[in-house]
Amino acid sequence: MSPLNPILDNIPTTPGKFKPEKSPLHFLHHRLRLHTTLPKLTLVFLAFIFLFFFLSPPSPTAPRRTLRSTSWENHVKSSAKPRSRAAPIVLVTGAAGFVGSHAAVALKRRGNGVVGLDNFNPYYDVSLKKARKLQLLDRAGVFIVEGDINDAVLLRKLFGLVKFSHVLHLAAQAGVRYAMVNPNSYVESNVDGFVNLLEVAKSVNPQPVIVWASSSSVYGLNSKVPFSEKDRTDQPASLYAATKKAGEEIAHSYNHIYGLSITGLRFFTVYGPWGRPDMAYFFFTRDILKRRPISIYEGAGHVTVARDFTYIDDVVKGCLAAIDTAKKSTGSGGKKKGEAQFRIINLGNTSPVSVNKLVSILEKLLKVKAKKKVVLMPRNGDVPFTHANVTLARKELGYRPTTDLETGLGKFVKWYLEFYDGKKKSSW
Ligand SMILES: NC(=O)c1ccc[n+]([C@@H]2O[C@H](COP(=O)([O-])OP(=O)(O)OC[C@H]3O[C@@H](n4cnc5c(N)ncnc54)[C@H](O)[C@@H]3O)[C@@H](O)[C@H]2O)c1
Repeated sequence: MSPLNPILDNIPTTPGKFKPEKSPLHFLHHRLRLHTTLPKLTLVFLAFIFLFFFLSPPSPTAPRRTLRSTSWENHVKSSAKPRSRAAPIVLVTGAAGFVGSHAAVALKRRGNGVVGLDNFNPYYDVSLKKARKLQLLDRAGVFIVEGDINDAVLLRKLFGLVKFSHVLHLAAQAGVRYAMVNPNSYVESNVDGFVNLLEVAKSVNPQPVIVWASSSSVYGLNSKVPFSEKDRTDQPASLYAATKKAGEEIAHSYNHIYGLSITGLRFFTVYGPWGRPDMAYFFFTRDILKRRPISIYEGAGHVTVARDFTYIDDVVKGCLAAIDTAKKSTGSGGKKKGEAQFRIINLGNTSPVSVNKLVSILEKLLKVKAKKKVVLMPRNGDVPFTHANVTLARKELGYRPTTDLETGLGKFVKWYLEFYDGKKKSSW
């Protein structure tokens, strides 16, 4: 019989109602027994609390500000440990995203300390973000905190736990067309969230270096090609582009006032395995396989639409090189101590490919003929042409993209078929 049972026997069935016919001696006896068993009970209770809060598996993502929090804090600290003392310790925002997950894994693999942050928002299939977490980040040993860059308390907490030397800021509301559906999401993440992050970064000590993703979309209606960092960027064609351009100006002001070292990277149409389902190469693949018609945009006057498609591994190399070549921030405790580095650099492939060519490569790889519908490009934020000049990237970062579209799409299609076939078979 369990030692708890005698006590339970003596507890009245209706709590608080003792039966009056019991003798005073009985009560003395009862109290003595309670005195000896209470400490045991307390111990059992405390052991239970300990087991529940500390030994149960941590929430994979969400930091909870409860007793359990020490568990996620330990995960953050251990994920942030670099292999050598001199290696960067990087907070990667948007780490469950396409570029973020690849970049976080690459940083971890080369021995950096890495912590991810992402709000897992439902702009596109959240299960894809979760799969990146499970299959890429978890396997590489990158811990990701589920949280928002607008949460200043959380950001301060993270900087309190870890002395991040760098922030690779990739969290953003991406995609140009969705701005017509949910414009505020662009302001919240790309403007408010960025300011919030910079506010925290400028006030911590030491100040981290910031490397962040701007976009080729800032070139907007610029028609001078290839796009150079010196070209005008004051004619955005979408709210997305406008918020990225605002980010560049905001970054400049934080660099100027507080001495934060900031590098903005203008990515050009990044594609590859684990990509974004809202991008043409991704949904063309899905629709071609499902024998659905695909719309191919054409500019006014039958102008061919083309993009400077850049393979994910090339972009990740550019991000890592930006981290490695960045100079330190100069401020401390919110005060500038000297001029700090400010850079804006294109990361493209330098060889634009027409959408027709993209589709014909996909047809070959998928062995399915696409049902093409040529339509006039709607005025929804897309631009007809992008082409990067990467001279500055070569000089500053030693950047040399090496993957052509045919090779990169081959890798994407291989991943796509395995991933969605696997998904059909399993039920994760
Ligand atoms: N992929 C491209 O072709 C491309 C081109 C130009 C610029 N960019 C920029 O590169 C960065 C990464 O893009 P991506 O393609 O990986 O996009 P993505 O949408 O896959 O990744 C962004 C991630 O940020 C997270 N996020 C968004 N708002 C957040 C917030 N407020 N707090 C925390 N997390 C938040 C999202 O959940 C998502 O996982 C973005 O800044 C994007 O604007 C991408």
